[in-house]
Amino acid sequence: MSQLSTRHLLGIKDITEQDINTVFETADNFKEVLNRPIKKVPSLRDITIANIFFENSTRTKLSFELAEKRLSADVVNFSSSTSSVKKGETLIDTVNNILSMKVDMVVMRHSSPGAAHFLSRNIKANIVNAGDGTHEHPTQALLDAFSIREKLGDVAGKKVAIIGDILHSRVALSNIFCLQKLGAEVMVCGPVTLLPKHIASLGVKVEYDVKKALQWCDVANVLRIQLERQQIKYFPSLREYSLYFGINRKMLEQLDKEIVIMHPGPINRGVELNSDVADSEHSIILHQVENGVAVRMAVLYLLAGVR
Ligand code: CP
Repeated sequence: MSQLSTRHLLGIKDITEQDINTVFETADNFKEVLNRPIKKVPSLRDITIANIFFENSTRTKLSFELAEKRLSADVVNFSSSTSSVKKGETLIDTVNNILSMKVDMVVMRHSSPGAAHFLSRNIKANIVNAGDGTHEHPTQALLDAFSIREKLGDVAGKKVAIIGDILHSRVALSNIFCLQKLGAEVMVCGPVTLLPKHIASLGVKVEYDVKKALQWCDVANVLRIQLERQQIKYFPSLREYSLYFGINRKMLEQLDKEIVIMHPGPINRGVELNSDVADSEHSIILHQVENGVAVRMAVLYLLAGVR
C-alpha cells in the first residue's frame, strides 16, 4: 500500500513531491469510484473522523464529509458557533473532549495560523488542516493542482498566475508550494497593497498588471477579495478593484491563446471575476469542486495508512 511521508497533512510546505503524486494517483482511483453507480468503498470502515470547523465553509466542509462517507468512515461534525467554545472552552480542551469519544482523525479549519500544527503536537489523532487563517489550505492546493493536471495533462512546465488578494490568502501560499514542487512556474498578481512585501523570495514572479499576467499564463487561479480579514482599506472601493483587477470575457478574447480559469470559491461575482468568465468554457471551477472529493478521499485514506 502507498503511504505518505507524514501522519498529518498540515501544509504543502511539509510534504514531498512524491507525497503529492501519491495523493494524485490515489485520487485517480477514487475519481473512478465516484463515477460508479455505487460510490462507496469500505476503506475506512473502522475509522471515526471529526470535522471541527471554527470558521465558515461550504465547499471544504461538505467535500470532506462526503469523502469520509464515501470511504465508509464514521463521521461527527462540530461547528464552533453552536458549541461550548461560545462558553469559553479552549481549543485543546474542545479537541481532547472530542478525542475521548474515540475519534481517530481530526479535520480542522481555524482562523489562527498554526492551529493545526499546535493540535498535531498536543494530541494523538491524525490532523488534516482544512485551512488555518492566512497560512495554508493544503487540500485546496492539491485539488487545484490535480485539476490542472487533469485539464492540461501535466503541471510541470505550466505557467500559473495567482491573481487577487494574495496577502490574506492561505490558498495562494499552499498553491505556490504545491505548484513549485510539481515543476510549474508561478506568478502572483494584484494591487501592491494585497501582495506580501517579500513574496518574491518564494521564487514567484510578481506582476501588477492583470492583462500582462493573463498574457503570460496558461492558467489563472483567481482569488477572492477577503473583506472579512481586512482590518484597513487596501484599495479605494470594490468598484475600483473590479475596474483594474477584475477579469471579464473581453480580456480573455484579446489574448492570443486560450487560458484556463480557476477559482477556489466562494466567488465575488462582478468583483474579481465576471459571470461571463466564471460560467464560460474557460472555467474549470466546478471541476475543482468535483475533484475535491476524490482528492480528500485520497488524503484521508493515505493518512489512515500511517496511523
Ligand atoms: N475553497 C474553500 O475553502 O471554500 P470554503 O470556504 O467554502 O470551504
